[in-house]
Amino acid sequence: SASNSQQPAANAAAQDSAFLKACRREPVPHTPVWFMRQAGRSLPEYRKVREGVAMLDSCMRPDLVTEITLQPVRRHGVDAAIYFSDIVVPLKAIGIDLDIKPGVGPVVEQPIRSHEDLARLRDLTPEDVSYVTEAIGMLVRELSSTPLIGFAGAPFTLASYLVEGGPSRNHEHTKAMMYGAPDLWAALVDRLAEITSSFLKVQIEAGASAVQLFDSWVGALAPADYRRSVMPASAKVFESVASYGVPRIHFGVGTGELLGLMGEAGADVVGVDWRVPMDEGARRVGPGKALQGNLDPAVLFAGREAVEAKADEVLAAADGLEGHIFNLGHGVLPTTDPESLTRLVEYVHERTSR
Ligand code: CP3
Repeated sequence: SASNSQQPAANAAAQDSAFLKACRREPVPHTPVWFMRQAGRSLPEYRKVREGVAMLDSCMRPDLVTEITLQPVRRHGVDAAIYFSDIVVPLKAIGIDLDIKPGVGPVVEQPIRSHEDLARLRDLTPEDVSYVTEAIGMLVRELSSTPLIGFAGAPFTLASYLVEGGPSRNHEHTKAMMYGAPDLWAALVDRLAEITSSFLKVQIEAGASAVQLFDSWVGALAPADYRRSVMPASAKVFESVASYGVPRIHFGVGTGELLGLMGEAGADVVGVDWRVPMDEGARRVGPGKALQGNLDPAVLFAGREAVEAKADEVLAAADGLEGHIFNLGHGVLPTTDPESLTRLVEYVHERTSR
């Protein structure tokens, strides 16, 4: 088909994977499993290779990115790899002065608060992130039939870090701009949509088999505000990569009231956190989309029997959905016992193999 002809030959081997079949809502040999934040501090082999290397520096080294991305695939046997990076990497790449502070998160030296500040957000070119192209080339070769998920931060969540200057509980500066200076806000999220689109295109052209847009903090908004002030920018991102034909996943936290709109924004797969059961999530998202989720990451601290009972609940609620990708409702918590993740992958595969 026309869309398939645009797929880089490098990832042809992954097309029949359970993960991509589920994204396309085709029958699967077993429910595919991967975990948001599957690479990272829960793994001792990650902590070892990161010793003495700052987070953002590690994201710019193709050798480290490749190794860290592969670690959870080797250890857990997950059905997909997610490219190791961070949502602020493209912003750093265009020259925004920011850092990722351990235990805190992204911190921006000079927050974006005015029309003049917008000039600092220039578009991203493939040359700005040549290490991404290089790392994905290496990864696609190493992964062969295991698909690689590329990702980016969504305009709202990126705007929150840029406007607040760092992590925020209430997003007050962000909302002040959204409600009080709507023209500036619209220009900001539109600019971020362009940067994000460019970044996703780089990843797809290098061989990523799917992309996920992380709108982690958008659950802070009411539906009417999401529709008016955020959805157009997120929709622009999804539209910009539509012609590649790779599945587009849309994820946020606390988004129970937004699930319908998040699907409408243009995703093929919508992520659901643990607050909404999968069957109810499917009703809210509506037909024609696959769903991803939704075990509470804290359940992994409860011991094997409880983990399996809660995984059964997720599978039962997702039974009969056209496409289900098993995941957590948010990222792996850093102190999670990695053994519990390995066992969970095995358990879901066993319970669902047909
Ligand atoms: O395995 C994977 O999922 C890929 C890796 C990944 C990272 N960040 C690596 C990382 C992904 C997908 C992200 C996305 C990301 N980054 C999001 C969206 C996903 C989500 O969790 O909602 C957000 C909101 C960020 C911003 C960010 N970066 C935070 C909140 C933090 C944690 C700060 C801390 O130290 O607790 C980071 C840093 C970060 N990104 C780490 C990792 C592995 C930890 C830093 C380290 O290991 O030294």
